[in-house]
Amino acid sequence: MNILILGSGGREHAFAWKIKQSTSCERLYVAPGNAGTAQIAENVSILLDDFTAIAQLCIEKKIDLVVVGPEAPLVNGIIDFFQQQPALQAVQIIGTSQAGAQLEGSKDFAKRFMQEQAIPTAQYATFTVAQYDAAIAYVEKHPLPIVLKADGLAAGKGVIICDTHTEAKEILKEMLLEEKFGVASQKVVIEQFLSGIELSVFILTDGKHYKILPSAKDYKRIGEGDTGLNTGGMGAISPVSFADAAFMQKVEAKIVQPTLKGLQAAQINYKGFLFIGLMKVGDEPYVIEYNVRMGDPETQVVLPRIQTDLVTLLQATAQQTLDKTPLTVEEQTATTVVLVSGGYPEAYEKGKVIEGLAQVKESIVFHAGTAYHNEKLVTNGGRVLAITSLGKSMDEALQASRKVAEQIQFEGKYYRKDIGADLQEV
Ligand code: AMP
Ligand code: GLY
Repeated sequence: MNILILGSGGREHAFAWKIKQSTSCERLYVAPGNAGTAQIAENVSILLDDFTAIAQLCIEKKIDLVVVGPEAPLVNGIIDFFQQQPALQAVQIIGTSQAGAQLEGSKDFAKRFMQEQAIPTAQYATFTVAQYDAAIAYVEKHPLPIVLKADGLAAGKGVIICDTHTEAKEILKEMLLEEKFGVASQKVVIEQFLSGIELSVFILTDGKHYKILPSAKDYKRIGEGDTGLNTGGMGAISPVSFADAAFMQKVEAKIVQPTLKGLQAAQINYKGFLFIGLMKVGDEPYVIEYNVRMGDPETQVVLPRIQTDLVTLLQATAQQTLDKTPLTVEEQTATTVVLVSGGYPEAYEKGKVIEGLAQVKESIVFHAGTAYHNEKLVTNGGRVLAITSLGKSMDEALQASRKVAEQIQFEGKYYRKDIGADLQEV
């Protein structure tokens, strides 16, 4: 089969790495890709919002299977677009329709969906600009802390947790009246604060059946001890020690099954990955958010633990035969440590030469923001590389990742040395 992966991050390099191992994979393309995907696939320079160019590429390269990495093309309706093109009917594409992508694209939609399906989540209310006065009155009576969420996509920055009513009212004003996050904050979800420990659960569904993939925990803040600004993710581990069998049974019964039932009831075409961000409060799971894609950097620990041929799983997803496809998972622990550019997640420089990759033997180096410049590997983004290692214990895997993180050099390199540290005590 000829396969096309859309995206350019560490997640997409991990997809390419895993798909490349399949005996069913003939030609592999990544659009636009990065320096890591260029080593194992052919990169194609295409903008992900240019569906016509993506369609042409599929026809030209005789693509059989498309994997959509990030959420934006799904939220913009790439699945619906493919379905409407007569020339693309034979192309299998993994992802949800635009209707399903609202689970990530609109927090208000996701909250209403959960309420309708009685899925455990924080209590909330949604307000538009026209309801500004009511929103202020709601905030004034709300217990602290108060969680404010821009309804639409806001590049991971649209959630603000406020410790005082004054702060909450100020942020609410900025969001609703001053369009702090543009159109994304024309509607705001005001939510109860949940106190607990977070984890990410991943589902692959063909619309009728599903597989629960290995769960993972990611580390979102830039600083050690989970301090400082939010990032795309500084590291991840899988499995998650506190997500034991009893807890995962609750997740399946109270969250996964009602979610998929709700999608079916709404006749939403969903053949793809669903990422459920959960908070474990006491022993109970609550949904913090849905994403209609895999996580980054969680994919870099989830895929290395999947032993089943990924192309087989993806084909079964497209053909709605996931019930007949067994999933086998590696028992070892996987960890990934992300190396970022100095300054990230604020302003940072690009084009720094990266050295030391050739010496890496036992870990897998997934590229994110990398490029080739004058035949040299250079930094090309905030998150640069993700170092994934497998080990019999989390400690063993982490030691391996940290050793490589130390060996690889580029000016301004930064990484968190405490990935997984919180789990030592749980
Ligand atoms: P989101 O963009 O929805 O993933 O939110 C970003 C982060 O904000 C989450 O990963 C949580 O750490 C935090 N968060 C979101 N909603 C809540 C909530 N209701 N209670 C506590 N923390 C939350
Ligand atoms: N690592 C979190 C995300 O992919 O959204």
